[in-house]
Amino acid sequence: NQLEMELEAIEKGGFEHFMLKEISEQPRSIADCMRGRLDAKGGRLVLGGLRDYMNKFQNADRIIITACGTSWHAGLVAEYLFEEFARVPVEVEYASEFRYRNPVINSKDFVIAISQSGETADTLAAIELAKEKGATIFGVCNVVGSSIARATHAGSYTHAGPEIGVASTKAFTAQISVLSMMALMLGYQRGTLPESTYMQLLSELESIPAKVEKALKLNNQIEKIAAQYKDASNFLYLGRGYNFPVALEGALKLKEISYIHAEGYPAAEMKHGPIALIDEEMPVVFIATQDSSYEKVVSNIQEVKARKGKIIAVVTEGDQTVKKMADHVIEIPMAHEAFVPLISVVPLQQLSYHIAVMRGCNVDQPRNLAKSVTVE
Ligand code: G6P
Repeated sequence: NQLEMELEAIEKGGFEHFMLKEISEQPRSIADCMRGRLDAKGGRLVLGGLRDYMNKFQNADRIIITACGTSWHAGLVAEYLFEEFARVPVEVEYASEFRYRNPVINSKDFVIAISQSGETADTLAAIELAKEKGATIFGVCNVVGSSIARATHAGSYTHAGPEIGVASTKAFTAQISVLSMMALMLGYQRGTLPESTYMQLLSELESIPAKVEKALKLNNQIEKIAAQYKDASNFLYLGRGYNFPVALEGALKLKEISYIHAEGYPAAEMKHGPIALIDEEMPVVFIATQDSSYEKVVSNIQEVKARKGKIIAVVTEGDQTVKKMADHVIEIPMAHEAFVPLISVVPLQQLSYHIAVMRGCNVDQPRNLAKSVTVE
């Protein structure tokens, strides 16, 4: 009815869809997530939820991360963060597989469960199982007071605010923000991050919201790219290192809301299969920012170009090399490679959004999907 429609319009805050509103909110939601926790100038990083469990966290033999969907992708980013900064082995598990595998878990394991809704049945079951085996369970949830938040020993909320669009966007970047703070804390406490590096990383992380704000300005350019590729029947997303999970997430976003078949792969794995799919009809999205795997990604781009694939590349501002090879370049601000996913995912969210809108899809409520899956 009229009233409901007006209320919804108010909730959308002038945006046509919740998804676009939520994408656009990210500078604020990431800042909200870090507010009161991270103070780079003062060299302070506090996560209240970790206080009573810092000992367990610091002395854990292993970190196991369990989640589903987009939250699982945030877990993959965290694997890189924790291993690089804190030198602790990390395993990232689909909750649905973990719970039925009779996994090896003990009291020296620190389990992190990531969930936007805090209601995902498989994740909740994985938590119960790990708890029975004596592990410490830490939740990274968005919804306050949710089942997962209550089932865990402790946790840190992502504070992204309500996420209405079924395809997760701002919850993902808030999850990565919490996990980044956890990795920095752990690295510092364990002595694997020297004080000066730690301080530098704190300010790098603090600078992210402003960079995301800048990246959002590419929206019009991305809309134009979307118009060119909206009728494609397949998409490939490739990235390496920290951007490998971003490739998976970019592909998932496109599948979820536009119903275009898309696959994300670590760029180097291309030669073991997906390269067979490349022809002049195949758009390939590369995340090719300036980082330790840049040169390698550039050679992957050349391989796609040699087979006439269409190249859409997310690059660091000022990049010249990829510009010469790609059909389209999307230039995002420079950041420390560990925090690039927080920025590089944004244009991919926008790309899937625009393609879905142009295809007439219901972006906020895609077919067959639910915001939270409370059954197996
Ligand atoms: C559903 C949603 C996804 C979400 C996944 C995990 O499939 O559609 O967007 O990533 O569940 O949800 P959670 O609430 O546990 O993060």
